[in-house]
Amino acid sequence: MIIPQHVAIILDGNGRWAKSKGMPRNYGHSRGAKNLEVICEDAYNMGIKYLTVYLFSTENWKRSREEVDGLMRLFRSYTKTCIKTARKNNMKVRVLGDPTALDLDLQKSLKDLVESSKDNTGLNFQIAINYGSRDEIVRAIKKLAADVKADKVPIDAITEELFAGYLDTREVPDPDLLIRTSGEQRLSNYLCWQLAYTEFYFTDVPWPAFTKEDLWKAIEKYNGRERRFGGVKEE
Ligand code: IPE
Ligand code: IPE
Ligand code: MG
Repeated sequence: MIIPQHVAIILDGNGRWAKSKGMPRNYGHSRGAKNLEVICEDAYNMGIKYLTVYLFSTENWKRSREEVDGLMRLFRSYTKTCIKTARKNNMKVRVLGDPTALDLDLQKSLKDLVESSKDNTGLNFQIAINYGSRDEIVRAIKKLAADVKADKVPIDAITEELFAGYLDTREVPDPDLLIRTSGEQRLSNYLCWQLAYTEFYFTDVPWPAFTKEDLWKAIEKYNGRERRFGGVKEE
């Protein structure tokens, strides 16, 4: 079995899963966060080197105040727990997205999480929080434009590789496999640049119910695919 080096996941369906149990949406989010800890360990034990998960999109601020507040509370406790699990499991954590819209205490714990785990050599774990692909690209363009203006980068030196170095995912290889749970088949503004040649896998299983066996199914499907890049098979 070929294990994809980098798996990206759109963790979807927390709300619907909770509703199906007669519970509030935020219960689904908290069970989803617990499941993420389990899947993180499973992914690493399977040999996955990079795991990138979508926790909160730039569009998710439009949800009810109650849900957004609940999610922010959850991210606070999740980040604190993650500092401990990163230490225990040797995980290196990176944060994708624009943290400036988050409360200062959450920004600080996210920084602590990244800083305290930066020398770890186990799973590379990227969490996308207040992340939107279009926002990421615009922020990258602004930084690049500033460097051009300051004569640090000549226009002719701009290449795909150089541009990718301005994205939040610099240092991270592009995903090999994207999984979206809970039935929807769209990207919802996730990693549009990085997913250019990624294989997609959609499952109806909602995120809180997604297990190691479901991850295996996705990897099995991935193994049945013939990856092509411009009509040419993978080297
Ligand atoms: C994913 O679950 C988690 C976040 C987007 C924060 P949803 O909250 O989107 O759950 P559904 O899709 O409404 O069921
Ligand atoms: C995408 O899910 C964002 C996250 C999983 C964090 P959404 O549930 O917000 O996306 P849409 O609204 O179904 O496209
Ligand atoms: Mg959803």
